[in-house]
Amino acid sequence: MMMETSGRNTNIETKLSPVDLVTETDKAVEKLVFDELKKKFPDHRFIGEESFTGKVNLTDCPTWIIDPIDGTMNFVHTFPFCCISIGLTVGKEVIFGLIYSPFLNKLYTAKKGQGAYCNGEPIHVRPCDSFKSALLINELGSNRTDEHQKIYFGNLAAIGWQCQGVRSLGSAALNACMLANGYVDAYFEYGLHCWDLAAGSIIIQEAGGTVLDPEGGPFNLMSRRILAASNEKVAREISGLIVGHSSYE
Ligand code: IPD
Repeated sequence: MMMETSGRNTNIETKLSPVDLVTETDKAVEKLVFDELKKKFPDHRFIGEESFTGKVNLTDCPTWIIDPIDGTMNFVHTFPFCCISIGLTVGKEVIFGLIYSPFLNKLYTAKKGQGAYCNGEPIHVRPCDSFKSALLINELGSNRTDEHQKIYFGNLAAIGWQCQGVRSLGSAALNACMLANGYVDAYFEYGLHCWDLAAGSIIIQEAGGTVLDPEGGPFNLMSRRILAASNEKVAREISGLIVGHSSYE
């Protein structure tokens, strides 16, 4: 469905901001994935980006958290970094994650305690001694408020100059996979949702990486922010450099 319709969407709507897009394909993919999973797991709960009605209630029950197209802006523009992202939580903890990009032909998966894989091959973060030798991913995000703009550019100025380079791919889930695969060393972003983060967070951890809250505490799937790196030392260096934190409580 994604490959047939990328760049050909005629009915593009906006959601929480003018750059927060949704297409008919986002809705159709979410319905397909929900319908198929519900056949197998009728008692499980489901959270999906396109079924979001304003408040997400994550419980201890087994819950599938789905972003049918992560990187919808890329999808609309035919930039090939977009994917399906599916996470499963039990007791509010992510125990399984799957990210599939049909355009890149990459399937990333991870189960708790069993490692992370790309197209069936084990993947690992790469060693990184310090942030000054790191390649970092950071995103503008889809929140375009004045407050978020100030925080974003303040952090970019403070942090971007301290490492070897900053990249933005436009898909939180694939950003996580780039870190898990050892292509970059760190990633942080504010304003995301649990469906952007669920699968990616376990794939990073199972690939040996560290996932924290940007203020240095434990990662919280529902907090709408993430700081991840190939190891805790680099994650804590970045946390110490961040000058402004966006909060979504
Ligand atoms: C978006 C992507 C993007 C991030 C935005 C998200 P969506 O997800 O993950 O990288 O910067 O904040 O909203 O809306 O395309 O599923």
